[in-house]
Amino acid sequence: MAGSKLRLACPCLFGLESILNYEIKHIGGENITVTDGKVSFDGNVSVLARANLCLATAERVFIELTSFRAESFEALFQGVFAVPWENYIGITDVFPVKGHSLKSKLESIPACQSIIKKAVVERLKSKYNITYFEETGTLYQIQFALHRNIARIYLDTTGVGLHKRGYRRKSNAAPIKETLAAGIADLARIKPDSLVCDPMCGSGTLLIESAFKACHIAPGIRRKFAAQSWPLVPEEIWTEERNQALAEIEKHSSFRAIGSDLDPESVLLTNENAAKAGVASRISVSRSDVAKFTPPENAVTICNPPYGERMLETKQAEELYKKLGEQLHPSAANPCVIISPHEEFEKFFGRKADKRRKLYNGMIKCQLYMYFK
Ligand SMILES: C[S@@+](CC[C@H](N)C(=O)[O-])C[C@H]1O[C@@H](n2cnc3c(N)ncnc32)[C@H](O)[C@@H]1O
Repeated sequence: MAGSKLRLACPCLFGLESILNYEIKHIGGENITVTDGKVSFDGNVSVLARANLCLATAERVFIELTSFRAESFEALFQGVFAVPWENYIGITDVFPVKGHSLKSKLESIPACQSIIKKAVVERLKSKYNITYFEETGTLYQIQFALHRNIARIYLDTTGVGLHKRGYRRKSNAAPIKETLAAGIADLARIKPDSLVCDPMCGSGTLLIESAFKACHIAPGIRRKFAAQSWPLVPEEIWTEERNQALAEIEKHSSFRAIGSDLDPESVLLTNENAAKAGVASRISVSRSDVAKFTPPENAVTICNPPYGERMLETKQAEELYKKLGEQLHPSAANPCVIISPHEEFEKFFGRKADKRRKLYNGMIKCQLYMYFK
């Protein structure tokens, strides 16, 4: 089975699909299809391992096992029963079910979960000739998605979400998700020789993800994945892919990053997280008010200022946007990219963005305001 093609699917944050599409092409994904919040593609188990290790904007890597129309529980049962589960799940393995339903007749999640579980159990009973599953072994998380009555059934190869890179065990009050920060670093056009500044760096996520992008560091290189304990993906595949990812690190890039924050705790946190991420030598951090910040020549400024509803009152946030505008003066030599949910950000910042992109920070609808001129 190791050489055969699998259908893989990666969910992502809304707004990052085109970046993920590009990343998937780069790691060798084929027959790519992009839908809202998801990119699907073909690949063998090497591509599966590479996807987990290298994709910066994917939330997870699923194997898509089947898709079919399911307007009744009977159809759902039969569609799931038809999957050759015995090729994946062993006699003692654990196989919980979770998922969601949108605009579909089968809308009860618990009912769908128990039908799917029953279908897998019946299939495995018929293959293994047993009646009781102890479920003490390796985890195979089954995931379903019902959308407009089409059921898609997946196995989650990732385990803990891919945004958990392993460097951010602690964070400040309002950290940005690592996968979103990676998408922003991409949209800010970070290159191996970039100089990046974040004058409100919090726990340092934007700086660390920029360093990963600039130095071609695979974001998952320091962590484990669920499929590492699956016979489907042999140990040597993981070793090969890890070694390849390590060989691709741009050790001689001139990338540097400068972070600052008013909060001394955030300065400590950024230093700590950068060290855990293995990029401390690239990033320097100090305590400073954004009101005193001037970007060095040819620096790209990336920034996630506080949101009125989460950290400061809206009025204070607006004051900060004004301050940012006064300090940054974006130009071709000093581009800047700022994420904010404030509809009138540009008014306070004092300039219309050259480009905008709608992005979601969790459930909060934001805009990325990009100034390249
Ligand atoms: C939304 S958080 C940034 C989160 C960061 N992107 C991360 O991933 O952790 C905003 C940060 O702005 C900082 N901040 C607020 N007012 C500031 C000011 N006047 N000057 C500098 N930093 C400030 C806060 O301390 C906080 O760390």
